[in-house]
Amino acid sequence: MNYQDIIQEVYQKVNSMEDPGQPASYIPELETVDADNFGVYLTTLDQGAFGVGNCYEAFSIQSIAKVLSLSLAYGILGEHIWNRVGVEPSGTAFNSLIQLDADNGIPRNPFINSGAIVISDILLSNLENPKEDFLAFVRSISKNPAINYSPTIAASEKAVGFRNVALCNFIKSLGNINNDPAEVLDFYFDLCSLEMNCKELSELFLFLANNGVNVFDKSAIVTKSQSKRINALMQTCGFYDESGEFAFKVGLPGKSGVGGGIIAVHPNQYAIAVWSPKLNTKGNSYKGMRFLEEFTTKSQLSIF
Ligand code: DON
Repeated sequence: MNYQDIIQEVYQKVNSMEDPGQPASYIPELETVDADNFGVYLTTLDQGAFGVGNCYEAFSIQSIAKVLSLSLAYGILGEHIWNRVGVEPSGTAFNSLIQLDADNGIPRNPFINSGAIVISDILLSNLENPKEDFLAFVRSISKNPAINYSPTIAASEKAVGFRNVALCNFIKSLGNINNDPAEVLDFYFDLCSLEMNCKELSELFLFLANNGVNVFDKSAIVTKSQSKRINALMQTCGFYDESGEFAFKVGLPGKSGVGGGIIAVHPNQYAIAVWSPKLNTKGNSYKGMRFLEEFTTKSQLSIF
């Protein structure tokens, strides 16, 4: 498979398209990023690596970090984790409040904000130094030991994250948050502020293409069964109310973030990261979605 040629060809095509998207503005700091950035990086399990565009420029991975916090919490709690959060697609926006009441404070899945807030609560209860320990976990998977939170992005979201404050307090009132909501949110905003570039992001997610095993040091990040289940959740819930569309058009497990990043994993093959800050109306990168659709079409490799 000549991934390099396919990536270059699809990049040119998508880069020349009209982009009707808009960068996220509800986190003020995200709007300061040059919205014309567009980068792609693919890392294969056999160590092939191909990048194009702004693939070495760090960006805010936002909700993509929810896969990493789930991975750490799943490793700690095992299957008990599903007593606190569900595994069903929500069919609603990432920050929706509406299902929580009917669902008695058990969020539909770990990738909507409510679910990721519950996962943050679990980590807070189980880690000695949550922020440091989570960062150490991410760095242990990555080839870059300097990966870090962005204090500027975290502060920007903390100042305006009223919906997340509402979600966390509402879940607390329904009995599914054990810690102080302010501490849970502080941790949640920090983990969403993780920054890295497309190369680092694709390398980081290779463990989910490799049955949960770190390709660099061969350590187990999660079990094989957990890796399959995390991929299943990315497939069904990774793009909120656009998850069906992503499965239909791209055919890979993936996860988006409002910073404009998307990670997609082809089990036993590769992880590919795409970044373009302008988002479609569902909050997913417009060019990122278009790129991955064309990429799996041209490479004729997807899990379906
Ligand atoms: O909580 C939030 O709203 C953001 N920190 C993360 C949202 C996000 O990335 C949704 N993804 N498309």
